[in-house]
Amino acid sequence: MWAGGRVLLGVAGGVLAALCFLAAADDRLENELYVTAGDELYRAKRGPRNESLESCDFGVGPGVLRGAYAQLPRYFADSGKVEDLESRLMTCMTRIQGFGEEAFPRHARGDARMADFQRLAAFIAAQSNGMPLAAPLEHPREVEAYRIGERLFHRRAGAHDFSCATCHAAPGKRIRLQRLVDFSNRGDAQQSIATWPAYRAATGEVHTLQEWLATCYWAARHPQLRYGSEASIALTVFLVQQAAGGVIATPGVKR
Ligand code: HEC
Repeated sequence: MWAGGRVLLGVAGGVLAALCFLAAADDRLENELYVTAGDELYRAKRGPRNESLESCDFGVGPGVLRGAYAQLPRYFADSGKVEDLESRLMTCMTRIQGFGEEAFPRHARGDARMADFQRLAAFIAAQSNGMPLAAPLEHPREVEAYRIGERLFHRRAGAHDFSCATCHAAPGKRIRLQRLVDFSNRGDAQQSIATWPAYRAATGEVHTLQEWLATCYWAARHPQLRYGSEASIALTVFLVQQAAGGVIATPGVKR
């Protein structure tokens, strides 16, 4: 090859590497902004009762955040429900801060009210970074939620008669060159679930897991998934159990 060409290629490669590095640094910065904003929201006195969320019990004691996300979803005796991080936030926002239904997104997709949940979830999940996903599966309600989630995952419906399993339960499936996560494979499931909430370059936002489930339901032409619904939580229980042991590293970065 012409020597000048090689130098040019080298320079082009260097520029590309620098651009990739900058893009990665940009993703990290975006993630940090969400976590910091979530921290502020968590401590801010808000809602009709002008209270902060600092006394919320995410399962390991009021005000304890370290390790809480690693054990979600789980059964909560005070609400009598199995709750994931996002529905637990709704419970605490209702009970402690006095927020009503109108403060919560109805459908996670394209609802401006998701903004606070994206930030709060990013902050709280990050307090479990480095810990394995270890949601309990002991209480009868937890086992029941798992079974419902498993059935929903395999339930075919909608115009295309797709189930989640159609796209996500076989090795090496692709859509338009993009590899699909195989949730029947533990390693694959761990890598996916342990990195939610996640920043998506496509939207420039940090999204929550429930938000993503709603997006996939929509893409599969199913009826809209209600935010914080029993179905949404049950699917989360199922996916988190498939991913048990995955080491939490949030917010992740996805395409
Ligand atoms: C038509 C195929 C299809 C169906 C059906 C489908 N998905 Fe997806 N799913 C995708 C694609 C494509 C992506 C990757 C999108 C992206 O990241 O740009 C994805 C990504 C995901 C992710 C995030 C993976 C990651 O990168 O961490 C989760 C979680 C998920 N889907 C869950 C579900 C669930 C639950 C259902 C059933 C309600 C479902 N999907 C149904 C195509 C599908």
